Amino acid sequence: EKGNYRHYMQKEIFEQPIVVAQTLQTYVRPFEGEVALPDADLDLAKVDRVTIVACGTSFYAGLVAKYWIEQFARVPVDIDVASEFRYRQPVLEPGGLALFISQSGETADTLAALRHARDEQQRIAVVVNVPTSSMAREADLLLPTHAGPEIGVASTKAFTCQLAVLAALAANLARAKGRLSREEEIDIVAHLQEAPAALNAALGHDDDIAAMAYLIAPARDVLYLGRGPDYPMALEGALKLKEISYIHAEGYAAGEMKHGPIALIDEAVPVIVIAPSGPLFEKTVSNMQEVRARGGKIVLISDAKGIAEAGEGCMATIEMPEVHPLIAPLVYAVPVQLLAYHVAVLKGTDVDQPRNLAKSVTVE
Ligand code: F6R
Repeated sequence: EKGNYRHYMQKEIFEQPIVVAQTLQTYVRPFEGEVALPDADLDLAKVDRVTIVACGTSFYAGLVAKYWIEQFARVPVDIDVASEFRYRQPVLEPGGLALFISQSGETADTLAALRHARDEQQRIAVVVNVPTSSMAREADLLLPTHAGPEIGVASTKAFTCQLAVLAALAANLARAKGRLSREEEIDIVAHLQEAPAALNAALGHDDDIAAMAYLIAPARDVLYLGRGPDYPMALEGALKLKEISYIHAEGYAAGEMKHGPIALIDEAVPVIVIAPSGPLFEKTVSNMQEVRARGGKIVLISDAKGIAEAGEGCMATIEMPEVHPLIAPLVYAVPVQLLAYHVAVLKGTDVDQPRNLAKSVTVE
């Protein structure tokens, strides 16, 4: 039931601190300072290559996982949307790990890709929210998210739970490969444990986001920029806005702007910049200044430190808590979800049942 919420999507956005905490219980042992995985007949130490396949929002979770797996475990990762993977004749060395990510566990393209990978002698890992789904049944390594039923067609809480599982998977793989020191593992566990409170703090800015949504609602096009593991949050922000508000939006890697899309910039195209302070902050901000120099209207999403440093001259700023870069993608998912939600509410669209979309895409 929706309780006090106006829409399922809104309720599901606000459930994130709880369901992420619930999900993490399976994947971290906070007192031991250890990451953990459910039992499976699969030796991660033998994994030399990972292939990630998913669709839509689940694909963006996979993009973040690529950064994490390569950074922590130093295992090469290949990633594709399911509808491309199936037909491009991917080269799959026997013994590789194929990782499928899906809220429903029934998405037809992802399921067909899973079966193809199995035929090609891949071990199958599945991150899935519906434990009784087809994908869950066909996994060698089943990695459930504990988001609970997701009713809103636009995926929100399943996404942040996928990220939590994928961060733990990356750390588990790194440990199995002998590439994670005890201290690093303790640190990763501590940062993951900070995620629920940080998500709560991010949700605390709901009113600010509702109050600035009117700046975005009249736009015909919106751009989202991010870098590194936060680049997929730009893609996710753009997808959420498109699907529920019907405003055309695109996510770009911040450094890629100058290779074309900057030609779009004028005062009618708001640019949402996702820039947590951290190692990539200065680079992203310099891309933001390129946009500003061409008359672009900027919404900067950053923490107090980032906003103090770069917020001047922005059309609006959205403040997030200061967090470790590992959990920034989870935390910065919240403001892009809320922004899409409030813009859609202003536009009066059917937030939970956007036109032309189905919750589970069982056609190929
Ligand atoms: C976006 C959205 C879709 C799904 C995609 C995959 O908000 O909900 O893009 O993420 O259809 O669905 P699953 O994760 O069920 O395989």
